[in-house]
Amino acid sequence: MKILFIGDIFGEIGRKVLKESMPELKSNYNPDFCIANGENAAGGRGISYNTALEILDTGIDAITMGNHTWARKEILQIIDSGIRIVRPANYPKGVPGKGRLIVEKNGMRLAVVNLLGRIYMDQPVDCPFQTIDRELSYLKGQADYILIDFHAEATSEKIAMGYYVDGRVSCMFGTHTHVQTADEKILENGTAYISDVGMTGPAEGIIGVDKDLIIKKFTLGLPVQHEPAKGKAQVNAVIVTINEENNKLSEIKRINYIKKI
Ligand SMILES: [Fe+2]
Ligand SMILES: [Fe+2]
Repeated sequence: MKILFIGDIFGEIGRKVLKESMPELKSNYNPDFCIANGENAAGGRGISYNTALEILDTGIDAITMGNHTWARKEILQIIDSGIRIVRPANYPKGVPGKGRLIVEKNGMRLAVVNLLGRIYMDQPVDCPFQTIDRELSYLKGQADYILIDFHAEATSEKIAMGYYVDGRVSCMFGTHTHVQTADEKILENGTAYISDVGMTGPAEGIIGVDKDLIIKKFTLGLPVQHEPAKGKAQVNAVIVTINEENNKLSEIKRINYIKKI
């Protein structure tokens, strides 16, 4: 059994490179489930109905979010419509949408849980560790495999979460920094882990944004309107293989494509 997870899809370039790469990713890796983070799908911030459909149409089974979940008001109209978007599970009670989604395919059930970190994130969220305990007790008997997208800034918080859920979930993937880390591994009790999957979008910007604008922001301290960078595009993803006989993971591999769009 194989799960493909795509790092934060950023703007139009991210959606285009995803569309172009999915047939290749599918034929190279033959994934059973394809999950993607879409918190930057619309213009680099948030997601819209059309951008969500565009991503799902490429063969993505569920879209996870992050700190930009509510960047576009439009999401409030669509998030409870049954669309396969998962928002962080540790938002306060009463927030629309769902923090978990169970995808059923080929006779298998994959639960996808999204969480937000609290270190350097400036978001009013509940403890992600207590939240995942609650989510896992809810999911008992309801899923064959569980994947967590932990959208967080600090690697320490993500590594802590990896060890915290090791053996209780199949995959614990970090997102948000837009830079892929080279620490992918199978933890001691069988959970596939990476601190950050990276970003699918502009390859020549500063974490997706036009580099001149961000350099101006750092050097002059003036506010700038973020625009997605132009030029080459990248796909950052991971593919995990699970041995169905004993439910143990056998492999996690990083995927890193650079393409001219
Ligand atoms: Fe992001
Ligand atoms: Fe983020």
